[in-house]
Amino acid sequence: MNKAIIYYFTGTGNTRIASEMIEAHLKRSGFSVTLFEVRRHRDAMPDPNDFDVVGFGYPIHAFNPPRLFLKTIQTLPRVAKHKTAFIFKTAGEPFPLNRASSWGVIRALKKQGYDILMDRHLLMPYNILFRYPESLAKHMVIHTNHMAELIARDVIHQRRTPIIIHPWTWVVMMIMRIQWVAAKVNGPLFIPKKRTCIQCGICQKMCPSDNITFDSGYPKFGFDCSMCMGCVMYCPTDAIRPGLITPLRVNGAYDFPRLMQNGELSDECINETTKGYFRLFRKYYRVTQQEIDRMREELDR
Ligand SMILES: Cc1cc2nc3c(=O)[nH]c(=O)nc-3n(C[C@H](O)[C@H](O)[C@H](O)COP(=O)(O)O)c2cc1C
Repeated sequence: MNKAIIYYFTGTGNTRIASEMIEAHLKRSGFSVTLFEVRRHRDAMPDPNDFDVVGFGYPIHAFNPPRLFLKTIQTLPRVAKHKTAFIFKTAGEPFPLNRASSWGVIRALKKQGYDILMDRHLLMPYNILFRYPESLAKHMVIHTNHMAELIARDVIHQRRTPIIIHPWTWVVMMIMRIQWVAAKVNGPLFIPKKRTCIQCGICQKMCPSDNITFDSGYPKFGFDCSMCMGCVMYCPTDAIRPGLITPLRVNGAYDFPRLMQNGELSDECINETTKGYFRLFRKYYRVTQQEIDRMREELDR
């Protein structure tokens, strides 16, 4: 039996959902799959050399991977020659500039000896700035499941997807790493609204950076914040004010199981007639849908 491992980081759950979808599609084809969530304090990391294929998943934060994710994968042992890897990242927008986030990850994996098959961009709803409409969130999660199937098929058949990253995006990636510093500076500025905080501890459980301790019953935030927004989004009483980015916060996780069951929401809300800001998403859905259709034709043959 083929063995796969996926190392992933998630703040608000989108990348975990994508990882679980890829896991399910690989398992359907007889793979045994281990999911490993990257957190600051974690169990010993499984050795990638014990697996046939290795996946890496992360959310894009300001055209970069979360620092904790990148630093963690840089500590993995070197692998034997020809070990194949696949990368996927979730992001709120389809813009090609997001590919900039891959510079560091690809470099780290190449140094460790991986042969990288693909670097896939999966659209999932935003967890900062503003909430995506429910119909779009539903569309995104359905499409991500199709993309997960495509990734799994390509992994099984060891097929490559060209990795295109324009050299100039390196500059954007480097400039935007300021977000890593900003996260550190802004971390201790997070505060709970004491009148609303119910001291439930969900924020502490959500935090992949283990940056939250409890002081006199209320959460206290340290310098190790990844700015992933997990604590803010999942707070049941919207009690957390994330420092300087308070106006950008989104509270209340997307309830994907409920969205999937809601037949009144269209399954495909981005199409060739979509207008406004979301018309910019049309190309992503058109191109990836063609790839999914090709995969289906191949399966039907
Ligand atoms: C601090 C921060 C920065 C982000 N920057 C980007 C970005 O540059 N491009 C983008 O498309 N999405 C961006 N997003 C949106 C997330 O990448 C997206 O919602 C992702 O699916 C979240 O994954 P997670 O739930 O696994 O943490 C950002 C989110 C946060 C919290």
